[in-house]
Amino acid sequence: MADAAVLSPSQASGTAHGLLEIRDLSKRFGGLRAVEHCSFQVERGTITGLIGPNGAGKTTVFNLITGFIPPDAGRIVLDGQDIGHLRPDQIFARGLCRTFQIPREHGTMSVLENLMLVPSGQSGERWWNVLLRPGQVRAEEARHLRKAREVLDYLQLGHVQNEYAANLSGGQKKLLEMGRMLMAEPRIILLDEPAAGVNRTLLRSIIENIQALVRERGITFLLIEHDMNMVMSLCDPVIVMSEGRKLAEGHPEAVRNDPAVLEAYLGGQYAAAAG
Ligand SMILES: Nc1ncnc2c1ncn2[C@@H]1O[C@H](COP(=O)(O)OP(=O)(O)OP(=O)(O)O)[C@@H](O)[C@H]1O
Ligand SMILES: [Mg+2]
Repeated sequence: MADAAVLSPSQASGTAHGLLEIRDLSKRFGGLRAVEHCSFQVERGTITGLIGPNGAGKTTVFNLITGFIPPDAGRIVLDGQDIGHLRPDQIFARGLCRTFQIPREHGTMSVLENLMLVPSGQSGERWWNVLLRPGQVRAEEARHLRKAREVLDYLQLGHVQNEYAANLSGGQKKLLEMGRMLMAEPRIILLDEPAAGVNRTLLRSIIENIQALVRERGITFLLIEHDMNMVMSLCDPVIVMSEGRKLAEGHPEAVRNDPAVLEAYLGGQYAAAAG
């Protein structure tokens, strides 16, 4: 363990506070308290699981973190900076990316075109560059295309690059969503139920991709999942939410045997999976 006293302030804060932190976050929908004084942090280089019964507030936490809905109270801190007031595109540009519980591909565009849509800060997006610096724009588009092909190869989607995205299987659509995130060179990826509706072969491939991205590119993951096999084999630590709050946190085995967690899931699928 490094001595905190010898670390630079940025290193020290990175170690002490994690890459992503939510502090005392709350969100109501009318009279419903979807998220209630919820606090947790995600350490760099981890695959952190976020679990909890239906309606616990997990997706709402993702919507708050990614700027899709504003919090009523609380803070969201990415790498020491408050991002609670930023728009989704500004948060995305800072390297925080997400998938949706239901994939949002552009069905009438090809798989390759879906990746090419992801903004990359390229000069071609500024219309005047097309007139003033056409050579530069062409070179950047070529780079962008090369990167898209690399991402497709990486995810083993190369063979479907010219298919309409609508024609992909559910699992391939999830891989495509991951591909769209990789185009943006993320630091942290939030996945909402990556295993839902995915067959076993593709699930293996998604799990291996996540592990490789942590190992090879240092990307951090926070993932919501109901599939307990996936959570137990992939995530550490696991954070449990119930009724808008953090109920427990720790090593997957410890969380699995926590009486408060079992109670929250009572009658649910977790009890069935554990028993
Ligand atoms: N935009 C909204 N308007 C009103 N109520 C909402 C909205 N979004 C979520 N809720 C409610 O907030 C609560 C938390 O929902 P949320 O989707 O965050 O749960 P979840 O933990 O992701 O559940 P699941 O595991 O079923 O996906 C639920 O009662 C839900 O109906
Ligand atoms: Mg949800």
